[in-house]
Amino acid sequence: MNSIIENKKGILHFDGCNTLELVEKYGTPLYVMSETEIVNRFNQLKECFINKYPNTRVAYASKAFCTLAIYQICKREGMCIDVVSGGELYTAIKAGYPPEKIEFNGNNKLRAEIELAVEYGIGRIIVDGLQELSIIEDVCKEKNKKVKILYRITPGVKSSSHDYIVTGKKDSKFGIPLDEDVIMKHIKDAIDSEWVEFLGFHYHVGSQLFDNESHLKATRIILELIKQVKGKFDYDIKEINLGGGFGVKYTDEVRKPYAYFIEPMMEMINDFYNELGVVPPSVVIEPGRSIVAEAGISLYTIGSIKEIRDVRKYVSVDGGMPDNIRPALYQAEYDGVVANKVDEEKNDKVTICGKCCESGDILITDIKITKTAKAGDIFAIFSTGAYGYSMASTYNGNPIPAVVLVKDGDSELIVKGQSYEDMIGNQLMAKKLI
Ligand code: LLP
Repeated sequence: MNSIIENKKGILHFDGCNTLELVEKYGTPLYVMSETEIVNRFNQLKECFINKYPNTRVAYASKAFCTLAIYQICKREGMCIDVVSGGELYTAIKAGYPPEKIEFNGNNKLRAEIELAVEYGIGRIIVDGLQELSIIEDVCKEKNKKVKILYRITPGVKSSSHDYIVTGKKDSKFGIPLDEDVIMKHIKDAIDSEWVEFLGFHYHVGSQLFDNESHLKATRIILELIKQVKGKFDYDIKEINLGGGFGVKYTDEVRKPYAYFIEPMMEMINDFYNELGVVPPSVVIEPGRSIVAEAGISLYTIGSIKEIRDVRKYVSVDGGMPDNIRPALYQAEYDGVVANKVDEEKNDKVTICGKCCESGDILITDIKITKTAKAGDIFAIFSTGAYGYSMASTYNGNPIPAVVLVKDGDSELIVKGQSYEDMIGNQLMAKKLI
């Protein structure tokens, strides 16, 4: 357990807050996010990256957890952010985010989204191909504005993670393949364009990684490309973006420090530029999960318990796949505890399931919890801060739960839980059927 998770007299506390009091105040299911832990991650990045190497930035990949309040925290901590849709961009702008600190990723940015990005004057668009470049040029011409762009490349490296979250291999919907005729045409068009300032290259090799090999391979590939661009076009690349993907602890994984990934990449980049006798370009990273995953827990109330003799014991909670789709989608594993019985011996193997009409609505398969767990107890699942709330749905008519931000024993609601009315707020009765 990390330091924000504490057991005080058998009751789970999170960032100084008694989880039972949180439940009393805000109900369940409930997402709880620790500001202390989020800031702690940013501080680690400041120490081993931003403050250590000149001309470096962190752009928090806000797809992992996108709310007004996380943008407020990122802004206060001096971070840049990465958005992947008009909706995330809108949320960031609503939170008062400086547009020049926003970067925009995505494999099929809509014209309307690009228009919004250009109007706001955001810092970077990470471009996925020529089709997108021509839309950007068109929009910029129309608005008489210029934007800074990077190209997202697919470095052709395969990282070891779940297939759905591996993105750097050649057969990917993201980025530009490195076939010489393809990539060079892209680069030439961007250099020649009067509407974009071409800064450099971006890659993202995958997510939840514990091995730095694919990051290093991809960095080597980008540096090689930079050399080719210099040789062919006499053009100096000004920025490289190394993506995110740094793994976190859900169950028994051992988290690697950021430096394990960052140091060898920076060494490789600096060595390359030292040899050329040129100042290295800006270097940006885009972590999402590693900032917020362990900063979040989910709290549920236990309901019905079904014991199938000699087979399995199902412990149902009042949430499930609508608030955490990851186990169903990626077979993701989590750890948890009965929050009001932390001291009790964990000697009963159970399966924690959700309340959806769906056999795959399982949150944790085979976890040991106290034998005395019963309806009304509170069950906490750890490390749900990333891709939990941000992937939530109202499947089976379950309203999206509230999110509370906690810090040193204080709590504040940052997302109101949906009411049934909110949930159907955009629906209309078909007039002809009334
Ligand atoms: N940058 C780009 C361009 C990305 O596509 C991603 C994640 C990130 C940064 C951040 O990666 P992270 O540091 O969070 O690993 N829903 C999945 C994860 C999808 C990740 C997609 N891209 C999950 O719940 O595991």
